Amino acid sequence: MTETHPKITKAVIPAAGLGTRFLPATKATPKEMLPVVDKPAIQYVVEEAVSAGLDDVLMVTGRNKRPLEDHFDRNYELESALTKKGDQSRLAKVQESSDLATMHYVRQGDPRGLGHAVLCAAPHVGHEPFAVLLGDDLIDPRDPLLQRMVEVQQQHGGSVIALMEVDPAQIHLYGCAAVKPTGEGDVVQITSLVEKPDPADAPSNLAIIGRYVLDPAVFGILRKTEPGRGGEIQLTDALQELAADEELGGPVHGVVFKGRRYDTGDRGDYLRAIVRLACEREDLGPDFRTWLRDYVTEEMQGS
Ligand code: G1P
Repeated sequence: MTETHPKITKAVIPAAGLGTRFLPATKATPKEMLPVVDKPAIQYVVEEAVSAGLDDVLMVTGRNKRPLEDHFDRNYELESALTKKGDQSRLAKVQESSDLATMHYVRQGDPRGLGHAVLCAAPHVGHEPFAVLLGDDLIDPRDPLLQRMVEVQQQHGGSVIALMEVDPAQIHLYGCAAVKPTGEGDVVQITSLVEKPDPADAPSNLAIIGRYVLDPAVFGILRKTEPGRGGEIQLTDALQELAADEELGGPVHGVVFKGRRYDTGDRGDYLRAIVRLACEREDLGPDFRTWLRDYVTEEMQGS
């Protein structure tokens, strides 16, 4: 008999970080609101959750994050001005973000790390499995990852994390997984996890990228998790406990992602994401690509 696992409907998006890598832009604006082409980075993330069938979204925010709430709320003034002008297409753009999902907010208070941010979601999530999406990781909408993770969770139960092969020299920037194969191409079983290891001690070059589908047992573990790397309560440390003892909350699997991912928390990658997504846009792409080609040619002649 196949076991049925409860359906996943809730997504948690930690968004309390200070965004210091983008100062001064983030002095008075949350980093999640920085535009990627013409949409705030955070909207891509909420759209991704909704495409995977999760339309109950909880954002874990902090001070100075009011613009996030405003962005996903109605803006009657703007809507009525655009309605009066008969500008339907811009009106649709304004309404898109408020119609997307049922949004909820909770404040983290003290920024004590990602594990602590996830723990702040416990009262809202309750006893169901749920997804966590980190705003700095932008997954190309054409390479659905979360949907696949939900599918794997529904099949195996327990928790599922997203992994990606990275250059071994970069593994110290990520949580890193030791895995064993399952016989299913893109699915591996996690045997252990370590947060941001030195490359010499890393068990693999498989990095955790910011997508998780978690069994609610993680909350009980997070409550007892001591501060780890950087003095912060690390989600990776709690997941390591889940992986080490299946009795706690079922197995932990990994989905190895081979699609396009951008780290919008890194300035270089942020610029690359904008250029790529702009090139591929039907409205902006043709003109932008022509300009870009000419620009690169000029640059090469000059060098
Ligand atoms: C967090 C996690 C880390 C993960 C990374 C993915 O780190 O702690 O395990 O690999 O996100 O982006 P952060 O980048 O927030 O320091």
